[in-house]
Amino acid sequence: MTEAILLVGGKGTRLRPLTVRTPKPMVPAAGVPFLTHQLARARAAGVEHIVLATSYLAEVFEPHFGDGSSLGLHLEYVTEDEPLGTGGAIRNVASRLRSAPDDPVLVFNGDILTGLDIRALVATHRSSGADVSLHLTRVTDPRAYGLVPTDASGRVRAFLEKPQTPEEIVTDQINAGAYVFRRSVVDSIPVGRPVSVERETFPDLLAAGAHLQGMVDSTYWLDLGTPQAFVRGSADLVLGRVPSPAVPGRRGDSLVLPTASVAPGAKLTAGTVVGRGATVGEGARVLGSTILADAVVEPNAVITDSLVGAGARVGARSVLTGAVIGDGATVGPDNELRDGVRVWCDARIPGASLRFSSDR
Ligand code: GDD
Ligand code: MG
Repeated sequence: MTEAILLVGGKGTRLRPLTVRTPKPMVPAAGVPFLTHQLARARAAGVEHIVLATSYLAEVFEPHFGDGSSLGLHLEYVTEDEPLGTGGAIRNVASRLRSAPDDPVLVFNGDILTGLDIRALVATHRSSGADVSLHLTRVTDPRAYGLVPTDASGRVRAFLEKPQTPEEIVTDQINAGAYVFRRSVVDSIPVGRPVSVERETFPDLLAAGAHLQGMVDSTYWLDLGTPQAFVRGSADLVLGRVPSPAVPGRRGDSLVLPTASVAPGAKLTAGTVVGRGATVGEGARVLGSTILADAVVEPNAVITDSLVGAGARVGARSVLTGAVIGDGATVGPDNELRDGVRVWCDARIPGASLRFSSDR
């Protein structure tokens, strides 16, 4: 049996709201709380036991996912009193693991959407005999990530978290946030204090001559750190660009959840999701966007690559591009909102108040 630790929490999580009231891991992506996709994908790869390591909001996860049986999983929850960092969080749940000292334990960052072949990562781990194996992906700008240069055989040479200087940018291979740890390595992380696997555990292991193995896999990979990425990820799930057994319904241009109401002349494309109880009016066009539960899109609005929060309202003819409308907010008719603008929960923007286009 393979088991896994899922990391959800950390200091920053509360401070970077999507402008929706739901905590980020529970915001619906393709109709179900984002975390469901990670859980379901792990289950599909043969994982049966998952420990959710959280530093906050256990009270939100447990009532929803329960013991995990609806997903065919055995789920446990461990909440830190104070955030322990990624390594501290992993160590903190060690007593819940059932694996023997040499067995593989999967660890996932909780904010990644990926098509990673989890079985292949475990197979690489076993065949290389590594202490820790890491999924690596390539990105054009690696500065926000952990850089992981490897040798020709994939063995990790260094781990450079969030490189600061140009000299440190020695590769475009980054840590994609999925690992296999030898169980005994989990037990060797110090207890009772914050530890970062990225800044402490991995560099220390390398310095001590341990074997860290990288597996570069260029499958779909997205860090859901920004609202725009979140909307993109949700759309890609709907479009079938990233496989998840948890998407309710068939893959296609759009996903309309039960009890939503879409006027016959409205157009939903590019992976748009319309949540339960939401309404999309006549002539509206919604492209690659997420409309959460009970939101209202009035006639002839045009919404692209945007998130419309639960119970929010977008007025007639308003044009939203790359916008985030908080839960319960109202954007009156004939507004134009663009480029990462966030409207806070319950805020009210009167009709014809904002525009970006020229007056010609
Ligand atoms: N339980 C718990 N406690 N979880 C934590 C804590 C903590 O104190 N701190 C962070 N986490 C969780 C986060 O919720 C997230 O799921 C994961 O650990 C990674 O933390 P982030 O804060 O999202 O880190 P990051 O995105 O800046 O960088 C990490 O991910 C990159 C890929 O997206 C690093 O692992 C990088 O090396 C990596 O490239
Ligand atoms: Mg992250």
